[in-house]
Amino acid sequence: MKKLSVRDLDVRNRRVFVRVDFNVPLADGGTISTDARIRASLPTINFLLKRRATVVLASHLGKPDGKPDPKLSLKVVADRLAELLDRPVVFAPDCIGKATRQLVTDAAPGSVILLENLRFHPGEVSNDPEFSRELAGLAERYVNDAFGTAHRSHASTVGVAGLFDRPAAGLLMEEEIRYLASVLESPDRPHVAIIGGSKVKDKAGVIANLLPQVDKLLIGGGLMFDFLKGQGLGIGKSIFKPDTVRRARELAENPKLVLPVDVVVAPDPDSPDKAHAVPVDAIPDDEMGLDIGPKTIELFRKVLADARTVVWAGPLGMFEKDAFATGTNEIARAVAALTETGATTVVGGGDTLAALSRAGLRDKVSHVSTGGGACLQFLEGRILPGIRALADAHGATRTPIIAGNWKMHKTATVARAFCIKLRPRLADVLDRQILIFPPFTALAAVADELDRSRIGYGGQDCHWEAEGAFTGAVSPAFLRDLGCTHVLVGHSERRHVFGDSDDICNRKVRAALAAGLIPVFCCGEKLDERENELTFATLERQLSIGLRGFKEQDELVIAYEPVWAIGTGRTATPEQAQEVHRWIRSWLVRRVSVEFADRTPILYGGSVKPDNVDALMAETHIDGVLVGGASLEVESFERLVRFQA
Ligand code: 13P
Repeated sequence: MKKLSVRDLDVRNRRVFVRVDFNVPLADGGTISTDARIRASLPTINFLLKRRATVVLASHLGKPDGKPDPKLSLKVVADRLAELLDRPVVFAPDCIGKATRQLVTDAAPGSVILLENLRFHPGEVSNDPEFSRELAGLAERYVNDAFGTAHRSHASTVGVAGLFDRPAAGLLMEEEIRYLASVLESPDRPHVAIIGGSKVKDKAGVIANLLPQVDKLLIGGGLMFDFLKGQGLGIGKSIFKPDTVRRARELAENPKLVLPVDVVVAPDPDSPDKAHAVPVDAIPDDEMGLDIGPKTIELFRKVLADARTVVWAGPLGMFEKDAFATGTNEIARAVAALTETGATTVVGGGDTLAALSRAGLRDKVSHVSTGGGACLQFLEGRILPGIRALADAHGATRTPIIAGNWKMHKTATVARAFCIKLRPRLADVLDRQILIFPPFTALAAVADELDRSRIGYGGQDCHWEAEGAFTGAVSPAFLRDLGCTHVLVGHSERRHVFGDSDDICNRKVRAALAAGLIPVFCCGEKLDERENELTFATLERQLSIGLRGFKEQDELVIAYEPVWAIGTGRTATPEQAQEVHRWIRSWLVRRVSVEFADRTPILYGGSVKPDNVDALMAETHIDGVLVGGASLEVESFERLVRFQA
């Protein structure tokens, strides 16, 4: 099993390709205006140097459009890095090519090499496989420490990662993920978000994703005027976007949202001497709002007073001008003071960072994200391609799946309590897919509690029709509507207790696919079939009838569950399971395609427990487990999710 952290890599005396984010702001004349991003990568570089690795650093700088541009050369960064590390940094004038290869191969262990701007080649942004191969050829290990670029599917962040057996996250990447995941999933309460900046469009996703997690969400910055306009107030000449006012109005229906009560206005941004505060319902027609007012600062301070977690993205006013920086500065001070009391305070987004630096408070918060767009997308709940590429590279492209099938256990009330307990405990698990299959009656409660978490859920069965006179049945569309992503089809209890035939299973598979659900197709032999050496004949029949009409582009999960091992305490040995999984994989190659077989996860089910999961998951064809009994308790399910292989 591949590990996610540089700490787990054997890097001693190895050449290590490290994707860093050295995309620093440059002043006129080409000097570096702030080197924060270079400093942020030092822990990973020093970690590697301590182990006498040859550190091959790669980054982009600006947007050179796929061709060399001397103004965007990383040479200045190499010089600055050498000062910070207090050791020589070799600068390679190109990131690929023979000369670069030679330079890297000749470097003594413990050297630091910085490659020229990756984006001088078009293959970086287009994630070109040949360009990725050239980069990968430079090193024996791959580490991604470029959180700020993790939202891009580029060669150095995604393509190259896929060419290494054990691509790993650097220390900065790990820290970013840890902090940002903690404000999303398991914050200490009260949890307050502060969202500013100029556009609702940029922040609507973040606001929508944060609202279920936070206790209060404070709105400031230019985007507050969309909200005020949405409330029917006059906003004078303030900025707003007609197309996002409706979105702002919808978001403002949530009582957790706190809007400003007064604003600082002026005829225009260049008349600071005319600035004055007015209540939000008295903005003069010929003036514009440029900051939150003193009463709002007071209100926000009160809300923040006992916060234990704060996440802040976007300045609260036009902070670049002193006359309109008061709101941002005062709130920055309040956040800094909270940090001193032990609260976790996380700040993200380029402008907020600049505002914090301007207020001299950059070091006074728990974590400042080095990412702008990446940080916002993470807070929106998206899985960033650069992080996914690290998590996905488990030998093939299959992410391990740990699935709990609750069968006929747990009322909606009990299911809800289970999810409330489970969710924060698994917040840091990013490299495996977690799925729960509750009874139908508990699905809505589970959907509620797992909303926007990384834990997915699905139905235990479905009917093959979309609707109709089928008393007691549940259609795939009903499941989709509740946010299910998966559905079990052909579970042995459906086959052997309720009489689902191979043909019925096939109809259900097709119906599930048509509704946009991923079928988890269960198959497996009974004890007498195994004893009579009919295992593969049984599977051949179940798969070829059950998956009839299946197309290569469809998505599928297969669960091999030998009937004799379900609920009996008798697990197939890892070798027995691996043998059948290998057979199923080759069936998929024969009947569909190599690519399909490579990407389709095959799970094992049948008396999986915390004490046998590690051995099962160590097998190369076992991509996950489908668990009944041992998934019913939070502790034991967590242990399964945290299997070690
Ligand atoms: P047990 O883990 O209880 O054996 O159940 C396996 C199963 O049927 C999962 O679908």
